[in-house]
Amino acid sequence: MHSFKELVGKFEERFLPSALFPSAPHTLYEPCRYILSLGGKRIRPILCLMGNELIGDLKEDAWHGAAAIELFHNYTLIHDDIMDNAPLRRGKPTIHAIYGLTSGILSGDVMSIYAYEQLAQIKQPIAPILSLFNKTAIQVCEGQQLDMDFEQRNDVSIDDYIHMITLKTSVLLACSLKMGALLAGSTGGNADKLYEFGKNLGIAFQLKDDYLDAFGDADRLGKQQGGDIKANKKTYLLLTALQNANESHKKEIAYWLQNDGDEKVHAMLSIFSESGAHTACHEAVEHYSQKAFDCLEDVAVLSKRKAALHELATYLLQRDK
Ligand code: IPE
Ligand code: IPE
Ligand code: MG
Ligand code: MG
Ligand code: MG
Repeated sequence: MHSFKELVGKFEERFLPSALFPSAPHTLYEPCRYILSLGGKRIRPILCLMGNELIGDLKEDAWHGAAAIELFHNYTLIHDDIMDNAPLRRGKPTIHAIYGLTSGILSGDVMSIYAYEQLAQIKQPIAPILSLFNKTAIQVCEGQQLDMDFEQRNDVSIDDYIHMITLKTSVLLACSLKMGALLAGSTGGNADKLYEFGKNLGIAFQLKDDYLDAFGDADRLGKQQGGDIKANKKTYLLLTALQNANESHKKEIAYWLQNDGDEKVHAMLSIFSESGAHTACHEAVEHYSQKAFDCLEDVAVLSKRKAALHELATYLLQRDK
């Protein structure tokens, strides 16, 4: 069994941005190489590999599943940065900022097809894998659309938010784990339990992502700080602040939701802290992490086989980038 770090090393030996795409047209493939070479944490492909190794020795098919998932994830990031108007990703300018919108759209599109090309190389019966992948990809689009719709809405509930982040983020972590288990020949039980673990871990992960967007260190994060505040994203922080703030803070929030300005991020951060939203967000991360760990307990394999997943989940929840 391998640790998170060992699996990242092994994955990156095989997943070479310079070898994944043809050279021309340069304007289509250079952005693909660019974003993949900036790395990232590689959480999803490693979850797929760990899901596989939880059941038995790592199978060749799992490497293709892992590559498909990482390509799919990066495609969603390229389009997400266009939609979120984000200037920075992984500490570097975003694709649309460097290469323009057309390359951003088409490089994302082609990368999603290359994800399917990886799935096509899987040797075992592909139908259940494909249908899991497709269901997940559809849910990610649904979640991303809800995320954008919520920017314009002021009646979003916490339940709506949890539903939205489940779709846009957590089902892909869940799918990664389940795909790994299915590719190890797991039928039913454990694969579904791993899916539930991934879903709760993914919710905690996105809550933490939202927290870091507001309170994280921009240099560590490699993303613009306060981007969610500028875009009026209906994050857990904003929703709990709206629920718990005093009347004057509520008025201030209402003002900033209608206005932009240099002071907006700073003003909202103060309200998030003073209203207790900051603490509530931490507690929500804890709550969903605990649910995730409870689901992991239910997976019927020897507990020492789960050590790597434990380690990865703990790192994700404590991370600062
Ligand atoms: C960013 O995911 C998108 C979200 C779902 C929050 P990651 O934080 O896993 O991004 P990388 O791949 O490590 O850069
Ligand atoms: C992105 O959520 C989710 C997907 C890419 C599907 P965010 O918009 O919060 O991700 P970051 O913060 O830009 O990485
Ligand atoms: Mg987004
Ligand atoms: Mg974004
Ligand atoms: Mg974010």
